[in-house]
Amino acid sequence: MATATANEIFPWRAEYSVGIPLIDTQHRGLIKLINDLHASMLAGKGSQAMAGILDDLIRYTESHFSYEQAMLRQSGYSGLAAHIEEHQRLTKQVTDLRQDFATSKVCMTLGVMRFLKDWLANHILDRDMDYARELKTH
Ligand code: FEO
Repeated sequence: MATATANEIFPWRAEYSVGIPLIDTQHRGLIKLINDLHASMLAGKGSQAMAGILDDLIRYTESHFSYEQAMLRQSGYSGLAAHIEEHQRLTKQVTDLRQDFATSKVCMTLGVMRFLKDWLANHILDRDMDYARELKTH
């Protein structure tokens, strides 16, 4: 796991922990990709390098969502259907961003980085914490 650096846009915080080690590891992996994208932007890397990281982010997002949904299904989580819908909405947002980047409708800016940070942080803090609380009581 990469250690936090001073100018990381998305440092890991204890409040992001859902208390399930494998899920936390996956969330850390997603956070790392957003930090990598930010570092590439700051370093003035070319669009091909950034497209590659965005592709990794999409792949890892889909894999994490799929793992998490299977875990929630198995646990009988009451909010599963809404959680799946939210995952679909988030996946569409990041694939739309990838498409807009590919067609030069959007550039990698600090605003886009902040959007990606909020995109993931808000989901973890609001929705993932909902299942973490319910699963903890079972
Ligand atoms: Fe960890 Fe619901 O994504």
